[in-house]
Amino acid sequence: MNAQASTQNLIELRDVVKTYSTAAGDFTALKRVNMNIGVGEFVGIVGKSGAGKSTLLNMITGVDHLSEGEVIIHTNGSPVSVHKKKEDEIALWRGQMMGVVFQSFQLLPMLTLVENITLPMDLCGNFSPKQSRQRALELLRLVEIEEHAEKLPALISGGQQQRVAIARALANDPPIIIADEPTGSLDSVTADHIFELFARLVADQGKTIVMVTHDESLSTRFTRALQIADGELITPKLATNSKSDHEADLNPKKSWWRRK
Ligand SMILES: Nc1ncnc2c1ncn2[C@@H]1O[C@H](COP(=O)(O)OP(=O)(O)O)[C@@H](O)[C@H]1O
Ligand SMILES: [Mg+2]
Repeated sequence: MNAQASTQNLIELRDVVKTYSTAAGDFTALKRVNMNIGVGEFVGIVGKSGAGKSTLLNMITGVDHLSEGEVIIHTNGSPVSVHKKKEDEIALWRGQMMGVVFQSFQLLPMLTLVENITLPMDLCGNFSPKQSRQRALELLRLVEIEEHAEKLPALISGGQQQRVAIARALANDPPIIIADEPTGSLDSVTADHIFELFARLVADQGKTIVMVTHDESLSTRFTRALQIADGELITPKLATNSKSDHEADLNPKKSWWRRK
């Protein structure tokens, strides 16, 4: 057997390529991305619009197919190759392993907010129906939106929907949280609150969070920030050119709680 006891790798991307076929021809949005994320990291993936951030998260979660390469999630000592899982297995597996906050929220429009959160719990069966409702209300309280629990998503604002999407990602208490611009629609105070919440989940509960943002000013708040541009990861360590001024800002050692 292949003993991997010395590594704490949780998420591993090996030479991941994603090519979209469009009417205008093929477009490669990810170009051989390699990445390792360890247990308990709060990793930020920072890059401009169109850099490939959402595509990268879709490869990690397996909600879209990759063109080449492999994504491996190491859990309970047994590596799982995400894209080799059967279609009917992956949704349930993802539900247990990962909470996903989509850039476009993807709340179910015909369900109330509280039902949007109980649904993934009821599908995975970790909580009884009574517990799941209770937990859903607690999560809505955590993101400060409990008073709207019985409303439909269309009746609340984008920022409020984003908070519900965050609460839903936490529903099954997954070890991994994958969040696509989760503060993009929030005012700065609420965004700060969500950041604190994520940081606490990492520090107190050992969760692993991968969060995407186009906002470079957030870089220092992650335990590690990676920059993506044109479908390629640029890490500060790889920056051999002295003119890479803004890459120096993405110092992985500079944690958010030490910022001035
Ligand atoms: N379904 C798709 N079909 C074709 N091109 C796509 C598709 N999704 C994304 N792209 C293209 O891939 C590139 C990366 O997109 P995306 O991952 O959404 O970037 P980001 O999240 O960093 O803004 C963009 O040029 C985008 O236009
Ligand atoms: Mg995006």
